[in-house]
Amino acid sequence: MSSVVKLSNELLTTEDTENAIHMDDQLRTEFNEWARAGKGDSMERGHRPVGEQAIARMNVRSDARVLDVGCGSGWATRLLAGSAINGRVTGIDISDEMVRVAREASQSYPNVDFQVASAEQLPFDTDEFTHAFSMESLYYYRNIPKGLSEIHRVLENGGLFVAVVDMYWESETTHQWAENLNVPVQLISVREYRELFTAAGFMNVNDERILDPRPVPDDYTSGSFKSREDFVKYREAGSLMISGEAKK
Ligand SMILES: C[S@@+](CC[C@H](N)C(=O)[O-])C[C@H]1O[C@@H](n2cnc3c(N)ncnc32)[C@H](O)[C@@H]1O
Repeated sequence: MSSVVKLSNELLTTEDTENAIHMDDQLRTEFNEWARAGKGDSMERGHRPVGEQAIARMNVRSDARVLDVGCGSGWATRLLAGSAINGRVTGIDISDEMVRVAREASQSYPNVDFQVASAEQLPFDTDEFTHAFSMESLYYYRNIPKGLSEIHRVLENGGLFVAVVDMYWESETTHQWAENLNVPVQLISVREYRELFTAAGFMNVNDERILDPRPVPDDYTSGSFKSREDFVKYREAGSLMISGEAKK
């Protein structure tokens, strides 16, 4: 596992705290730029075909209380709100610009709200949610165990957490993102994700690969991969969906 993954019960020094503030600022600055550049919409186009399949597996009932962690422009938050019609869906994101975009796009949704917050310090009560979802967000957390333990804390007993990541060890052509992104990320394996979920208190931990059904264009030239061949390999590896139920 990457050495930057810190266990949540480690004692924090002043230097650790300063580093944490610096890393959160770095994430906020980077994703604020993404939001201003309209990347919220392009992420929706990129993530939605897989995200919809993951959300369909959640069986969100009409009175559910759902948390979308690292919600970006809030497309998944709104999608979840279509199921939790008598409940509530809350999106949180460390980027205030992403939250502004999400709020603006969600004005016609009475059961949706957004907050600027870090996954590692969720501003919610214990047992507040029945479900939590996270799309392409987990590997940005400076302290994944702390983020998972916060998500576990705010879920009620038996509450379901479903996370999807595209960058993971077994998807080899995504490894270059770890160097090319402007913020630190954690490249970890399926087994390590499973162990992190279990250590945070989740039971019935399950991993699955979800495929994007869209054809790869013949003329694919640019984007997040250096060649069409690498993009095809990424599509074949699929997105990793990892889920667990909060055990209390
Ligand atoms: C790749 S984007 C995905 C956004 C959205 N889930 C989607 O699928 O379009 C990752 C998002 O996670 C947010 N994020 C990263 N680290 C975070 C943290 N520690 N706490 C909360 N949000 C975080 C970023 O600001 C960004 O909006």
